[in-house]
Amino acid sequence: MKIKNICCIGAGYVGGPTMAVIAKQCPQIIITVVDINPERINAWNDKNLENLPVFEPSLAEIVNKTRGENLFFSTDIERAIDEAEMIFISVNTPTKTYGKGKGMAADLKYIELCARQIAKVAKQDKIIVEKSTLPVRTAEALKSILDNTGNGVNFQILSNPEFLAEGTAVQDLLNPDRVLIGGDVGSNDGNEAIDALVDIYANWVPKERILTTKVWSSELSKLTANAFLAQRVSSINSISELCEKTGADVNEVAKAIGMDSRIGPKFLNASVGFGGSCFQKDILNLVYIAKSYGLNEVADYWEQVILINEHQKNRFSNKIVSTLYNTVSGKKITFLGWAFKKDTNDTRESAAIKVANNLLNEQALISVYDPKVTEERIYADLDYLNSRSEEENRALLKVDNNPYEVCENAHAIAVLTEWDEFKTYNWQQIYDDMQKPAFIFDGRGILDMEYLKTIGFECYTIGKG
Ligand code: NAD
Ligand code: UGA
Repeated sequence: MKIKNICCIGAGYVGGPTMAVIAKQCPQIIITVVDINPERINAWNDKNLENLPVFEPSLAEIVNKTRGENLFFSTDIERAIDEAEMIFISVNTPTKTYGKGKGMAADLKYIELCARQIAKVAKQDKIIVEKSTLPVRTAEALKSILDNTGNGVNFQILSNPEFLAEGTAVQDLLNPDRVLIGGDVGSNDGNEAIDALVDIYANWVPKERILTTKVWSSELSKLTANAFLAQRVSSINSISELCEKTGADVNEVAKAIGMDSRIGPKFLNASVGFGGSCFQKDILNLVYIAKSYGLNEVADYWEQVILINEHQKNRFSNKIVSTLYNTVSGKKITFLGWAFKKDTNDTRESAAIKVANNLLNEQALISVYDPKVTEERIYADLDYLNSRSEEENRALLKVDNNPYEVCENAHAIAVLTEWDEFKTYNWQQIYDDMQKPAFIFDGRGILDMEYLKTIGFECYTIGKG
C-alpha cells in the first residue's frame, strides 16, 4: 500500500519539523498538519519565516520550500482526517496536574480526543501512527476507542516514537540513528501497515536503520531511551558535586570515562540540570507505570534521576547565594540564557526557571538575556509557578535584548544556556561595567575561566574544584 495523503494532528515541536522533513523527502505525498490552536497554524503559515512558532536551524528553509507544494498547515481537522490514509498523532502528553497520578502519570486526554475525532470522521480504513510519547499499552486504549466509537472501518495502530532532540531536529530527522516502528506483527493487516510506514522512511533512511518491533516494545523503548539519556546527565551531575569537593575536574573525568567505548563520550556534559519538555515527564511516567505494576524498586531507581536533577538546580542557586556573602537581596544577577538548551526557543522545564525562582525567593533582582526566547515567554514561565504575584515577577525580573546592557552593574552573571555567542563576547568590556568583585557562575562549562580570571572575574564552574 503506497501512502499518498498524510494528516498529522498537532503542529508543535515534533509535528511541525517531522512533517516538514517528510514533505521534503517525499514530494509525492501530500501532508496536512492540523492543530486546534489557530494562532499556531497562522504562525506556521506566516509569510515571514522569522515568525514560525518553532525555531530550529534549517527548518525555515525546508518549510519555505515545501509549504503550499505538498505541505499544508490547517485548522480544518475533520477534512484532513477524512482525506488521509495515514494519520500521525503528535499532540502533547504532559504530566497530569489533577486527579489520579497527579504529578506523575501522562495526561492522555488530548490523545483520547484525537482518537474520538478520528473515529467519528473516518469513512475508510486508516493507519493511525502514535508519534507522541505514550505510556506502554496506550495502543490498546486507542484501538478500543477507535473500534467502539467508529463507523465500522478498520484501524491499524502503529507506534513510531520520535527521537529528535530540539536544536538539532532537522539533522536528527534527516539522518536518524534509527527509526522505530511498532505494530501488530502477528497479523497480515498489521504487517501491511508497518510496511506502508517503512516505505515512507525508506525514501531517505537506510533500511538497516528502520527497526520494526511489537507495538509494546516500541512504546516502552521511547520512555526507556529518554530515561537512559537523562540518567547519564544525572550521573555526571552527581559526580560534578564530588569533583567540587575533591578538586577533580568533571570534564577530565567525563573524557576519561567516555573514552571507554562501552561508556561512550556523548551526553556526559555536567550542567545546571537537564530541562526540556520530555525527560522529566517521561521518567515520571515510567516511575508511575512501574509503581502501578507494584515494581517499587524499579520506580525508586528511576526516580533518583529526577531527584539528582532537582538537587543540581538548587545547588547552583545556593552556590550563587553563598558566594555572594550569603545574601543576594537587592543585588542584580544577570542570566545569560533562558532556553533549556542552545539553538531552540523552547523553555519548557528549563533549569533557568527553577534557578530564577530560588533567587527571587532570596529577593534578588534578575535581568535575563536570551537570543531566542521572548519576554512574554519568560514571564509566562515564572507566573506558571505561582510563587508570587505577576506584578512582583515583573518588578523583580527584567528582560533585556542587549547582552552588554543586561550585564551592566550586575553583581554576578550566571550562564544558564550554552549559546555559542556567549563565548564570543568582549568579556573585558562586560567586566568593566559590572559591580566589583565581579562574579561569574558558569552552569554550562562553556566559558574560558582561565582567561576570565586574568581579567579579574571571580569564577565558578559546575564540577571544578
Ligand atoms: P507541543 O505542545 O509543541 O505540540 C502539541 C500540539 O498539539 C499543540 O500545538 C496543541 O495545540 C496540539 N493539540 C493538542 N490537542 C489537540 C487536538 N485534540 N487536536 C489537534 N491539535 C491538538 O508538543 P511537542 O513538543 O510537539 O510534543 C508532542 C509529543 O511528542 C509529546 O508526546 C512529546 O513527548 C513527544 N516528543 C517531543 C519531543 C520534543 O523534542 N519536543 C521529541 C520527541 C517526542
Ligand atoms: C531529548 C532526547 O535527546 C531526544 O532523543 C528525545 O526525542 C527528546 O528528548 C524527547 O523525547 O523530547 P531534548 O530534550 O530536545 O531531546 O534535548 P537534549 O539534547 O536531550 O537535552 C535535554 C537536556 O539535557 C537539556 O537541558 C540539555 O542541556 C541537558 N543535557 C544534555 C546536559 O545537561 N548534558 C548533556 O550532556 C546532554
